[in-house]
Amino acid sequence: MASYTEFIQQNEDRDGVRFSWNVWPSSRLEATRIVVPLGCLYTPIKDQPTLPPIAYDPVLCTRSNCRAVLNPFCQVDYRAKLWTCNFCFQRNPFPPQYAAISEQHQPAELIPQFSTIEYTLTRATCNPPVFLFVVDTCMDDDEDLQALKESLQMSLSLLPPNALIGLITFGKMVQVHELGSEGISKSYVFRGTKDLDAKQIQEMLGIGRGVPAQQPRGPQGQNPQQQQQQLPSNRFLQPVHKCDMALTDLLGELQRDPWPVAQGKRPLRSLGTALSIAVGLLECTYPNTGARIMMFTGGPCTQGPGMVVGDEKKFPIRSHHDIEKDSVKYMKKAMKHYEALANRCSNNGHIIDIYSCALDQTGLHEMKFCCNHTGGHMIMGDSFNTSLFKQTFQRVFAKDVKGEFKMAFCGTLEVKTSRELKIQGAIGSCISTHVKGPSVSETELGMGGTSSWKICGLYPNSTLGIYFEVVNQHNAPIPQGGRGYIQFITKFQHSSGQKRVRVTTVARNWVDASMNIQHIAAGFDQEASAVLMARLAVFRGETDDGPDVLRWIDRMLIRLCQKFGEYNKDDPNSFRFSEQFSLYPQFMFHMRRSQFLQVFNNSPDETSYYRHALLREDLTQSLIMIQPILYAYSFNGPPEPVLLDSGSITADRILLMDTFFQIVIFHGETIAQWRKAKYQEKPEYENFKQLLQAPVDDAQEILQTRFPMPRYIDTQAGGSQARFLLSKVNPSQTHNNMYSWGGDSGAPVLTDDVSLQVFMEHLKKLAVSTST
Ligand SMILES: *[C@@H]1O[C@H](CO)[C@@H](O)[C@H](O)[C@H]1NC(C)=O
Ligand SMILES: *[C@@H]1O[C@H](CO)[C@@H](O)[C@H](O)[C@H]1NC(C)=O
Ligand SMILES: *[C@@H]1O[C@H](CO)[C@@H](O)[C@H](O)[C@H]1NC(C)=O
Ligand SMILES: [Zn+2]
Repeated sequence: MASYTEFIQQNEDRDGVRFSWNVWPSSRLEATRIVVPLGCLYTPIKDQPTLPPIAYDPVLCTRSNCRAVLNPFCQVDYRAKLWTCNFCFQRNPFPPQYAAISEQHQPAELIPQFSTIEYTLTRATCNPPVFLFVVDTCMDDDEDLQALKESLQMSLSLLPPNALIGLITFGKMVQVHELGSEGISKSYVFRGTKDLDAKQIQEMLGIGRGVPAQQPRGPQGQNPQQQQQQLPSNRFLQPVHKCDMALTDLLGELQRDPWPVAQGKRPLRSLGTALSIAVGLLECTYPNTGARIMMFTGGPCTQGPGMVVGDEKKFPIRSHHDIEKDSVKYMKKAMKHYEALANRCSNNGHIIDIYSCALDQTGLHEMKFCCNHTGGHMIMGDSFNTSLFKQTFQRVFAKDVKGEFKMAFCGTLEVKTSRELKIQGAIGSCISTHVKGPSVSETELGMGGTSSWKICGLYPNSTLGIYFEVVNQHNAPIPQGGRGYIQFITKFQHSSGQKRVRVTTVARNWVDASMNIQHIAAGFDQEASAVLMARLAVFRGETDDGPDVLRWIDRMLIRLCQKFGEYNKDDPNSFRFSEQFSLYPQFMFHMRRSQFLQVFNNSPDETSYYRHALLREDLTQSLIMIQPILYAYSFNGPPEPVLLDSGSITADRILLMDTFFQIVIFHGETIAQWRKAKYQEKPEYENFKQLLQAPVDDAQEILQTRFPMPRYIDTQAGGSQARFLLSKVNPSQTHNNMYSWGGDSGAPVLTDDVSLQVFMEHLKKLAVSTST
């Protein structure tokens, strides 16, 4: 058999899945003793160019409480034309169109290499996607509004001609713009202080009655035009091909909010009402159709529902300290408003993106639910007139080789398990649909109590962490040699309007951990485990105290060392970890120090922004966030990855650090002096010029593909921006080597901000100690 590393890689490539454990312990007790929960990271619509196109519906198990999809692990009786479900053992007849199958002539879904397969449902109706811009006009700076207007105009050319588009603008008032092609632009004005429900909005805008939530399936081949006529027509959402000229002009004419702003005041910004009107408008016109609300704001909501700060500038917006002291005036009420909107929106299958560009906070902390519950983007920048915003926004409309959007809409993920497993929950940009059933565990981890989640906005990198529980009791373990199964069924609306279903079925072996713990250990995936634990820690961090979360991470790490390390009792020097565990403590070390858990150096908005990214990216990107990558460039050879350690900073090197959110180029002292003396401009120092250029080129490659576009920082030894690097590297060269036992609960804790070396020494001591 191939090595586990190859096995893990193959499975990720083929199925978009990475498990913490690839061999499963056969009883519940053993599963808790292996410390890191049994779970996986699953990327439902991962880019998989080799998937065969299947233009028919999946075949389902006929047992009504199973409904698993036919897959390569099912036993097939080709003579009797029967298949046995690997989840419930039901024997099912094949449908008539499978009459010609045989061992030599298998349908794609039975071929082992297609454990992941995507069906296009040809009988479903197609709807074009809807885009609703919600634009703040209270920008402090005219340039900002100008830049935003240009970006929005540019985006019209990136939309498919049949996509529907709408525009809402807001300042003190909220305006819903009519998009007639007649030239004269009309808009409906709403007070910014009053919340309205969907029905009131529908009446005020004079929109015909809404369609039923579930649209009937149309006959085969029905064209989109016919379908659209059944929806209430309205003048606010129009096909791009009909209104792009008018909308381009309308955007061009947008002015700063005319209401005067007095000295020492913030503008009155009715963001909460504007968002509510946007949600209501889509709710009564296009329920359960792919739609995204794109909210652009240059500041916080300062009046009406959802306000996060008053308009008096002398009262600053809340900080983490204020939140901790529970002295925040508007936060809880605002969160309630946005959470309710987010829930309505995800019930309708719609997405909310928030593009926040301002020097101060805008309330992402209060609004995070909008993106989190709907699979929307959360983008944070200083200004709309930056390449960070402009490029990022352009990438929202990224297309595949066929020229179709990579974004998908109206996703739901359903998980099925064989009987020995139950689902504890999921963590990601999704929301529970509260589908209970026999495979749902009583104990929740993440968003639990369900076997299915809604992910209204889906992208190729969108990833969920899903956690499982082993059912069997210790005295009735699962027989060795058997396999457990999990099936992931993702339904979504492709950007072409097609309904698609991606199905991934995976199997892993059961092993009796009390006898064969080494088999379990061999299947440990430390990268997947680190990311799954990071998601749990961040999830806890949203409700628990910071120190409690750190203590929990420490306890889990110590227990993992005790269980899987090799050592003599009370002899820390004897401690050894095998290869598949060797990097794990380091991941935990960097995670404890990261901005995901140490929040006090950041604003609440920044914390929400960072956490949002960690909870939705795939494994590779998440690992970069947890433990940034560092490369060194010098005259001593080609660029090389180096340890994320202060010892890697030397005078004659250039460092390139990728933290996912920032790309930092750091020039060592000597290099910086040469650069200042402009050696690079002298012909005899051509090689120095090339050395300076190499990390810039490598940084460009990352800047051009990453979403959101990272911040680019060029700095040097002693530079003020060097703090970005210094805050991430292991402080091996500093002298804060104090550590302590105890802590307020008396439990062993690892002290903050020590070096990795001290952390490891301390960890080994605790792990081998007979007294803990
Ligand atoms: C944005 O900033 C650049 C300078 O960085 C400036 O040249 C430009 O005029 C600004 N405005 C717009 C609308 O792009
Ligand atoms: C996302 O939503 C879930 C469910 O409400 C919540 O528990 C979690 O903390 C949220 N995550 C972030 C980063 O806001
Ligand atoms: C998605 O993930 C892949 C691999 O992990 C990465 O190369 C790519 O840049 C990511 N895409 C975006 C848009 O961030
Ligand atoms: Zn079944």
